Amino acid sequence: MSVNVAVMPGDGIGIEIIAEAVKVLDYYRAQGRLDITLNECPVGGAGYDAAGKPLPDETLALAKASDAILFGAIGGPQYENLPRELRPERGLLALRAGLDLFANLRPAILYPQLVAASSLKPEVVAGLDIMIVRELTGGIYFGQPRGINTDASGERTGFNTLVYKESEIERIAKVAFDIAMKRGKRLCSVDKANVLEVSELWREVMIKKSEAYPDVELSHMYVDNAAMQLIKWPKQFDVVVTKNLFGDILSDAASMLTGSIGMLPSASLDANSKGMYEPIHGSAPDIAGKGVANPLATILSVAMMLRYSLRHPQLADEIEAAVGRVLDKGLRTPDIMAEGCKQVGTVEMGEAVLAEL
Ligand code: IPM
Ligand code: MG
Repeated sequence: MSVNVAVMPGDGIGIEIIAEAVKVLDYYRAQGRLDITLNECPVGGAGYDAAGKPLPDETLALAKASDAILFGAIGGPQYENLPRELRPERGLLALRAGLDLFANLRPAILYPQLVAASSLKPEVVAGLDIMIVRELTGGIYFGQPRGINTDASGERTGFNTLVYKESEIERIAKVAFDIAMKRGKRLCSVDKANVLEVSELWREVMIKKSEAYPDVELSHMYVDNAAMQLIKWPKQFDVVVTKNLFGDILSDAASMLTGSIGMLPSASLDANSKGMYEPIHGSAPDIAGKGVANPLATILSVAMMLRYSLRHPQLADEIEAAVGRVLDKGLRTPDIMAEGCKQVGTVEMGEAVLAEL
């Protein structure tokens, strides 16, 4: 089966890390194991530079026509003073909304070789394997009304709306329960039901959905407690499902348990498993262009893409195993550098993964 993938490097280190990830796909194509066409297009600040907006029409059209999207990172200091609707982040949010990518899977896995890179004690994080399922196209990120109003006295009020329809909660619940079934069969729904009505509804829908999954043990946790428990004893979690904003925050916290945000891939899926794949880190303007960014999160995002959207689980396994062997050999980008290891740059790391493949 021939597949089309839209490649969106974006800004900052996005360009460097995507180049390494593309080498992996090129390698499989050259081997004849993957019939794939890659189409590169601008997004974020690059979209603004090319077409005057962060999600150019042609980029959205290409994304819609593709089987999957490989996304780098967006943003940079030169774009920070643009009007809100032209900022790079808007390009990413518009892609998520425009393609209905409501299910964001953010695995936090600690590679045994990186135990020392975590800021927590080895016994707290060794063997860590959590899947955070973040709702991605609803909640306070997209709720209306939103804005900043000025009253007669000249005082301004900023406001956003945290809103979820039952159907939106239902569909993310289904994704989370299905994933829990394939893993440890434990699902923790994180909410703020002690304060927010929308969380009360969220909890009700989760409980209703659990009737269809008698084998999955459903628990509930308030988000403040979840933040604490993630740091205290993260291994209590198997699958976590939560709203857009809570998932944004908790997934950054979870990433640090694994040593580096530079290691974590993500998938954002629609109802038909079409998806966008990206590292969870940002465009890191401070190190952009220096050739030191860790490409592994992006390479692991390619593995997720092969598994979830392109139906090549064998190739996904191979890539993940190759990353493991590169770490075994002691190669480290600066973000995961440890004593006794060999420090390498972005390209060397990418080449090392290719060599293992
Ligand atoms: C993420 C990022 C984005 C988000 C930003 C860049 C809009 O932090 O993917 O977690 O808030 O969702
Ligand atoms: Mg985030």
